[in-house]
Amino acid sequence: MADNRRASKGGCTRADLLADDEERDRAICGRSLACDDATALAGMGAHDPTATPYFVLEKLLPTIGLDAQSHLLDVGCARGRVLAYCADIGCPARVTGLEPDSELAREAASWASAYPQLEVRCGSVLDEQLAPYTHFYLFNPFDTAVLTRFLDRLERQARQAVTVVHMSDNGERFAYLGRSGWQVIRQGSIQDHRLPSGCTVRVYAHPQTYTIWRYDPIRAE
Ligand SMILES: C[S@@+](CC[C@H](N)C(=O)[O-])C[C@H]1O[C@@H](n2cnc3c(N)ncnc32)[C@H](O)[C@@H]1O
Repeated sequence: MADNRRASKGGCTRADLLADDEERDRAICGRSLACDDATALAGMGAHDPTATPYFVLEKLLPTIGLDAQSHLLDVGCARGRVLAYCADIGCPARVTGLEPDSELAREAASWASAYPQLEVRCGSVLDEQLAPYTHFYLFNPFDTAVLTRFLDRLERQARQAVTVVHMSDNGERFAYLGRSGWQVIRQGSIQDHRLPSGCTVRVYAHPQTYTIWRYDPIRAE
């Protein structure tokens, strides 16, 4: 089916911003990575597969020290927007996208296989071995019960200090409180975005808070 959505190239609405993101997707991997489907996995606590806008990734990921020794896990990669961003900016880190929805994982793997530093796996983070990863990115992947189990696993398995970027942790940041070894590196919120054309777009109806955490197993002892 033909995609009739318009790429804005300087438009001034939220739809224009999202259309520009899809155009960037196509330039990187030949297809749109936007998602607006409801999840089929709500029964396991999964949230809907919405892609992070590129401007959010530009605000968060360049600040977390990804280098050639790093291995980033995108926890719930959907069609792979985070992987596309990393490939596009020439990020030197290995990047793995993990996605329990088999159709989304298949779609992400189909384009990511062209990039040797990218890998896509189908599965839940609750079954993933977490020790190899140095950095984690979460964009609202699941409910608080699953988040709590993920944090428990990470604390048991981490062999080195790790960085966790949690975007849209509204209501979920409490799952981190009272745990030892965790330190807030940066916190903020995102609602609007100023486009290169100079106009400001309301991207989210309510401010979306984010937190960048450092978990150090040595500090937890
Ligand atoms: C809001 S989307 C984020 C997509 C992508 N990370 C991005 O930022 O563009 C959240 C994704 O997390 C996935 N997810 C849900 N439960 C999960 C689990 N237990 N393990 C890993 N991923 C999960 C969902 O299927 C969904 O695709």
